[in-house]
Amino acid sequence: MKQPWEIGSEFDWSNDLISSVGQTVELPSDYELFSTGCASLFGLERILNYKSNQRLRLHLPSFFCMEAAEKLTKAFDICWYRDLPNQKYPDFNSLDAACGDLVLAVNLFGIKSREVWQDWHHKHNGVILIEDHTHDPFSDWALQSQADYAMASLRKTLPIPDGAMIWSGKNRPLPKALESESDGAYKRLSAMLLKRAYLNGGNVAKDTYRQLEIESQDSLSDINCDRISAFSANVLSSLDVKGFRERREANIRHFLNLILADKNQDWQPLFSSWSHGTVPLTAL
Ligand SMILES: Cc1ncc(COP(=O)(O)O)c(C=O)c1O
Repeated sequence: MKQPWEIGSEFDWSNDLISSVGQTVELPSDYELFSTGCASLFGLERILNYKSNQRLRLHLPSFFCMEAAEKLTKAFDICWYRDLPNQKYPDFNSLDAACGDLVLAVNLFGIKSREVWQDWHHKHNGVILIEDHTHDPFSDWALQSQADYAMASLRKTLPIPDGAMIWSGKNRPLPKALESESDGAYKRLSAMLLKRAYLNGGNVAKDTYRQLEIESQDSLSDINCDRISAFSANVLSSLDVKGFRERREANIRHFLNLILADKNQDWQPLFSSWSHGTVPLTAL
């Protein structure tokens, strides 16, 4: 029998993803949940800008998801600084942030250095520093964040249909989601269940769940529906996050061993080591 398979793409859902031993990672002591990473930043804009109707400036790294950047222009004036995956540090000369501006410091692929941002922030403490831990939300850096704010789009590394978290290492007031929930998460969860059925050999057409994945992304882009779904909010603390991180690290080591063994290659991986407490971004 032909075994259905798929590389990459979106997560599927199985009850095996739930931990049998209770919560497996520490969450920040205080945090708020949103449907998406962008929604958490829109929420932050609402509380930081509540007295003035002047648009806040948000500085983004040059290597960033352009769909997200475009969405963020609805609330922010976007400025860019140079930060590239093949450079160890951001180019701070290109970061022209003034007092009151917001800077998004992205821990790209989960392998960047926290110290350079801490040093930069000490010299620019009127600037609001937001660390973006989307690529490794449960790293030591993320959980010990000292920045004004830290956020992570959780749905990129966890098998949940929607979800993002925002917290503050400085105990600053946190934004709260509005009341509306989009139907995007339910479409995405349907796609995840159907994908699992497909992978188990069930009579489900791939196009069916792919179409639902696409529709769910459109619904989740509605900036007025920023509340996390009941499913993601409730399942978060039951997920085997520690197990996912161990598996992710084993996968990437396996992949690196395979490609580094090929001596005929004329290219190099972006990274082949990482510090303790870090697990680089890859699929589950
Ligand atoms: C590093 C990073 N931060 C934030 C976002 C935005 O997250 P969301 O799509 O959940 O709004 C993305 C999106 O791809 C991302 O790659």
